[in-house]
Amino acid sequence: MNFQLTEEQIMIQQAARDYAQRELIQDVIERDEKAIYPTEHIRNLAELGFLGMLVDPRYDGGGMDTVSYVLAMEELSKVDSSVGVIISVNNSLVCFGLEKYGTEEQKEKFLKPLARGEVTGAFLLSEPGAGSDATSQQTKAIDMGDHYLVNGVKNWITNGHTASVYLLIAQTDPAKGHHGINALIVDRHADGITVGPHENKMGMRSSDTHSVQFTDVKVPKENRIGEDGFGFKFAMKTLEGGRIGIASQALGIASGAYELACKYAMERKTFGKPIIRHQAIAFKLADMATEIEAARFLCMKAAWLKDQGQPYGIASAMAKQYAADMAMRVTTEAVQIHGGYGYVKEYHVERLMRDAKLTQIYEGTSEIQKIVVSRAIESGDV
Ligand code: CAA
Repeated sequence: MNFQLTEEQIMIQQAARDYAQRELIQDVIERDEKAIYPTEHIRNLAELGFLGMLVDPRYDGGGMDTVSYVLAMEELSKVDSSVGVIISVNNSLVCFGLEKYGTEEQKEKFLKPLARGEVTGAFLLSEPGAGSDATSQQTKAIDMGDHYLVNGVKNWITNGHTASVYLLIAQTDPAKGHHGINALIVDRHADGITVGPHENKMGMRSSDTHSVQFTDVKVPKENRIGEDGFGFKFAMKTLEGGRIGIASQALGIASGAYELACKYAMERKTFGKPIIRHQAIAFKLADMATEIEAARFLCMKAAWLKDQGQPYGIASAMAKQYAADMAMRVTTEAVQIHGGYGYVKEYHVERLMRDAKLTQIYEGTSEIQKIVVSRAIESGDV
C-alpha cells in the first residue's frame, strides 16, 4: 500500500489550492449572497485545465488520473463548492459519459470543446417525479425514424442555463421499463427548449440550477449514446464516477470548515486561554480531523480503483455517503466552535454548512448510497 502522492499529483493539488486561496476566496461571499454564477473563474479554471482534467489528451483533455481529480476537487471546494460542482458535473458526468460510451464522431463534435472548457455540459436525469426513483422517467423521447421527438421536464439541473451540451435521459419505450430508456446528446439551444428560472437555493447558491422543459425537441438519431435502451445503465455507470466527484467536494467543504475552526480555536481566548486548550473544543477538533481523514481514504480508494480499471461503484457509494454525512457534522461543529461569529457570513463556516447539506442530496441521496451498499452486502460484493 502506497500513500505517497506523485509529483504530478502534488502539482495539481497545489495549482487548485493556489487558485482557490488566491482568487475564489475574494468574491465567494458576494457570489453566494447574490447567487452570481462564477463566469470568470470557470473561464480561468478552464485555461488551467480543470474543466476536462480527466479526459484523454487525444480528446483535448488533461489526461490526469482520478486521484488528482479528488485532490483538485477538495482544494477548490474548501473555498467554493459551487465552483466544485460545476467542475464535477462537467468532468465526471458529462465528459466521462461521452468519453466512455460515445462514438468517435460524438467525441469529436461534443467532447473536445467540453474537455477544452470552451463550453460546459449538464446531466439531465432528475424530474419533478423521478429523483431517487430514477427508473420512473416521464420525459419521452419518441423514435421518429431519423430523430427522437422529446417532450417533458427535467428538474434540479446543475449547469442547466449555462451548459451548451445536455446529456438527457428519457423514456422511449415505456413498455420496456428501464430497458426502454435512452441517453441523448442535446444541443441546449435547440428549438423547443425552455430553461426555468434560477433556483433560489439554501447553499451552493452560485452554481447554476434550473428546470428544463422540452417541447417537441428534435434530437438527431446519431446523438443517441450506445444501443437503443442503454440509457438507464448509462446513467447508473456514469453516476458511479460522479459520486467520487461529489464525495471529494464534501471532503473539501469539511476540510475547509475544519481549517477555519482550527485557526479560530488557536486565536480566540476564553477564560484566559485559547479555546483549543479547552477539552470541549479540542475533542471536537480531534473528531473532525479523524472523520475528515477517514473520508479522504474512502475517496482515494474509490479513485484508485477507478484508475486501476477495477469496479468502483460500491466504493464510490461508500465514499459519497460517508463524506457527505461527515461534511454536515463537521461544518455544524465548525459553526459551533466559532460561536456567534460562526453564524455571520464573514467567517465562511455558515456558508460551508449550508453547502454541505446539498452533498447529502444530489447525485443520489445518502439513503440511496446505503441502498447501493446494502444490496452489495446481500449479493456478497461487500
Ligand atoms: N451499473 C450498471 N447497471 C446498474 C447499476 C450500476 N451501478 N445500478 C443499477 N443498474 C441496472 C440494474 O442492473 C438493472 O438492470 P437489469 O434490469 O438489466 O438488471 C437496472 O439498472 C435497474 O436497477 P435496479 O432494479 O437496482 O433499479 P432501482 O429502481 O431499484 O434503482 C437505484 C436503483 C440505485 C436506487 C437508482 O435508481 C439510483 O441510483 N437512484 C438515484 C438517482 C441519482 O443518483 N440521481 C442523481 C441525479 S444526477 C445529479 O444530481 C446531477 C447534478 O446535477 C449534480
